Amino acid sequence: MTDAPGAGPLGRVPSVGDRMRLTIERAAHGGHCVGRHDGRVVFVRHALPGETVDVVVTGQGAKGRYLRADVEAVVEPSPDRVEPACAHARPGGCGGCDWQHAALPAQRAIKAGILREQLHRLGGVDVIDGVPLDRAVDVEAVPGDVAGLSWRTRVRYAVTPDGRTGFRRHRSHAVEVVERCPLVTDAVDGVGVTRTTWPGAEEIEVVAGSGGDRAVLVEPATAARTTGLDPDVAVRGLRGRTWVREVAGGREWRVQSAGFWQVHPGAADTLVTAVREVLAPRPGEHLLDLYAGVGLFAGCLAAGLGPEGRVDAVEASVGACRDARRNLHDLPQVRIHQGDVAAWLASGAIDTVDVVVLDPPRSGAGAAVLDRVLDLAPRAIAYVACDPAALGRDVGFLRAAGWRLASVRGFDLFPMTQHVEAVALVLPPA
Ligand SMILES: C[S@@+](CC[C@H](N)C(=O)[O-])C[C@H]1O[C@@H](n2cnc3c(N)ncnc32)[C@H](O)[C@@H]1O
Repeated sequence: MTDAPGAGPLGRVPSVGDRMRLTIERAAHGGHCVGRHDGRVVFVRHALPGETVDVVVTGQGAKGRYLRADVEAVVEPSPDRVEPACAHARPGGCGGCDWQHAALPAQRAIKAGILREQLHRLGGVDVIDGVPLDRAVDVEAVPGDVAGLSWRTRVRYAVTPDGRTGFRRHRSHAVEVVERCPLVTDAVDGVGVTRTTWPGAEEIEVVAGSGGDRAVLVEPATAARTTGLDPDVAVRGLRGRTWVREVAGGREWRVQSAGFWQVHPGAADTLVTAVREVLAPRPGEHLLDLYAGVGLFAGCLAAGLGPEGRVDAVEASVGACRDARRNLHDLPQVRIHQGDVAAWLASGAIDTVDVVVLDPPRSGAGAAVLDRVLDLAPRAIAYVACDPAALGRDVGFLRAAGWRLASVRGFDLFPMTQHVEAVALVLPPA
């Protein structure tokens, strides 16, 4: 491309379709890497840190302050570069995976770097329990996950106007038709949704619970049908149950097919183990499970509190609360409260608690919720985070209130994608 001088201190803003050669500096939150062109930041997909790549500009940020680009050719590859397992995981292809072109250890190193960066930038963290941040946070594989493939038990397919299924391209409504995604489990693939066409459908979700149930949810409901699907597959609105069974923590769970459950088959156990380790609940203690879903943490930690212990679990979804009541009916020390966490805390339902599990949605818990949690003076908070930026912000708030970040473990619950989960332990001022 030509670098003609233009408006603004950064020079002419390159246009979509322009080409340039870049040296990649680092990975950034969002599933891309950062390079620079004439001083302007370029967010590059399908690159890796240290590489020299030829890219094509795919978009511009507000007022041309930054660019988006995708790799066209790798001039000097990183030693971490590998051949993706899926032919659709390529520039301009499927938007579902961000890091298939990196070896799994490199993916995890990238995610650990992003976790640290967000904790530092948004949370002001330099050291965790005396250990410098760069050595204090790692991202671990789910036990037994060696390839990072065949882990999606819940998949949302997009549908083309002519009824074929696939996934959206990056930052686009266009659908890349994909017959066999290597990230989905055999149980999901066996449903057969991708081997038939779905006229009139816009999205199709397939759920395969670890208890053996499989369900299909079609949007809009008028496009749902059962043709071509195994007779044991439930189809929302047409046949079968509205829920699936999951197995975790040595218990069976009922979960609405459209409701929340961790996607990786090893995720629920991994998180429960990590939360139990950091909180070490003691007999007779009072645990607060905020954003409780169908009661995973409440149910798995209640046993450690014994019959004298107490659990209050708070969850907004009516369906999830119905499932939680059913899932935990054998645990008399657990009370399920349906409602908004902030409103429930503000209602003054409890005035003290021993330990807290916080597992908020991607937006994080936020100041109002955290303020009330701190008023309850718990001895420890386990924060389960699915977004490093939200974790960073909330840790920043907690630290400003004098609380201490005692540990953070990252978990690769979503291999090949940009997503990472973390479990943080926050303790009161000494
Ligand atoms: C990340 S999921 C965690 C669920 C559960 N802890 C688990 O591990 O299965 C977050 C949950 O928070 C619930 N939720 C979202 N916003 C909420 C709010 N403002 N108040 C209460 N629950 C909320 C969602 O319905 C969802 O079940």
